[in-house]
Amino acid sequence: MFAARTTLRATSTRLFSTSSARHTKVTVLGAGGGIGQPLSLLLKQDPLVSSLSLYDIRGAPGVAADVSHVDTPSEVNGYAMEHLDAALEGTEVVVIPAGVPRKPGMTRDDLFNTNASIVRDLAAAVARVSPTAHILVISNPVNSTVPIVASTLEKAGVFDPARLFGVTTLDVVRASRFLASVTGTKPSECDVPVIGGHSGPTIVPLLSQVANSKAKGVQGESYDKLVYRIQFGGDEVVKAKDGAGSATLSMAYAGAKFANALLRGLNGEKGVVTPTFVKSPLFADKGIDFFSSLVELGVNGVEKIHPIGALSSQEEKLLEACLPELKKNIEKGKAFVA
Ligand code: NAD
Ligand code: LMR
Repeated sequence: MFAARTTLRATSTRLFSTSSARHTKVTVLGAGGGIGQPLSLLLKQDPLVSSLSLYDIRGAPGVAADVSHVDTPSEVNGYAMEHLDAALEGTEVVVIPAGVPRKPGMTRDDLFNTNASIVRDLAAAVARVSPTAHILVISNPVNSTVPIVASTLEKAGVFDPARLFGVTTLDVVRASRFLASVTGTKPSECDVPVIGGHSGPTIVPLLSQVANSKAKGVQGESYDKLVYRIQFGGDEVVKAKDGAGSATLSMAYAGAKFANALLRGLNGEKGVVTPTFVKSPLFADKGIDFFSSLVELGVNGVEKIHPIGALSSQEEKLLEACLPELKKNIEKGKAFVA
C-alpha cells in the first residue's frame, strides 16, 4: 500500500479518458440533489459506466428518465425511496452525495448532526446489499463521514480500506484553477497535490511540489492569499449562493473526474494517481488513521498510498494546523458509530 512518489497524476487528464473495455455499474445515492443531478448527467457520458442506478428519497425516477435520453450506451434506472436495495443490487461503485449542504455562517461540521445518520444508514445498506462495492463519499463533513462509513462497514464485517474514498477532488480542481489564474498559466500545467482533509485548515495544498516553475514565484502575500482561497473556496460559493446551498456544479465535475480515475484504475490502467481521503498509515502514529494524499488507484481500488514528500517550511506549518483538527473530526465520526 505504500510506494515512492511518481509524477504521473490522474488530475491532469481530461475529464473522461478510457483505456480498456471493462464497464461498470455505478449507483448514485442522493441523485436528485444539487450535486446528484449534474453528477448523474456527467456519469452518463463516461464511457466506462455501463449502467447507472439513480436513488434518492425524492425525485430520482424523474432524474433517471431525463438523463436516460442522453445518447450514450449506458442504461439508466431510477429508484424511489423504498427501493434502496434494488438500486444497490450488483453495483460495483457507489457515489454518495446525499445530505444537506451548508448555508452562510455554517461550518461543514455543523452538518454533522443531519448528515452523519444519513451516511451511516446508506453505508449499512451498501454493506448488506453490495458489500464489495467501492464507495465514494461526497457528503460533508467528509473528515467525519468517511470514518462513519468505515466504522459502519467494520461493524458489518465487510470493511476493506482499499474500497473507501473521501472525494477531495474539488480541492484539487480549485487549487489547479486558482494557481493557473495567479501565474497566468493553464490549469493543466498546475497539478497541485492537496493533502490532509476537506475543510478549511485541514486542506493543505503543496504548492512547492508543483512542477510548473512559475508556481515557485508565488510568494509572500500572494502565496498566503492563494492558500486561503484553496482552503476556503467552498465558503466563497456558499456566500455567493446566499442561502441556496453550496458548490454543486464544480462538485459534480470533480466527482465525475474522480469516479473516472477510479474506473480507469479498476480497469487495469497503470499510473492513475490522485489525492483522495482514505484509511492511511501516513499519520497513524499520531492517532490519525484517515488522510488524503496522492493515492495510486488500481484493479482493487487503493493500490499504493504515496508519502507526502518534502514540504516547505510554510507547508510544515499548514500541516501542523491541519492534524489536530483532522484528528478531532475523525474521532467524532468514529464515536458516532461506536
Ligand atoms: P442537496 O440538498 O441539493 O441534495 C442532497 C440530496 O440528498 C437531496 O436530493 C436529498 O433528497 C438527498 N437525500 C437526503 N437524505 C437522503 C437519503 N437518506 N438517501 C438518499 N438521498 C438522500 O445538497 P447538495 O448541494 O447536492 O450537497 C450534498 C452534500 O454534498 C452536502 O453534504 C454538501 O455539503 C456536500 N458537498 C461535498 C463536497 C465535497 O467536496 N466533498 C462539495 C460540495 C458539497
Ligand atoms: C465545498 O468545498 O465546496 C464543499 O465542501 C461544500 C461546502 O460546504 O463548502
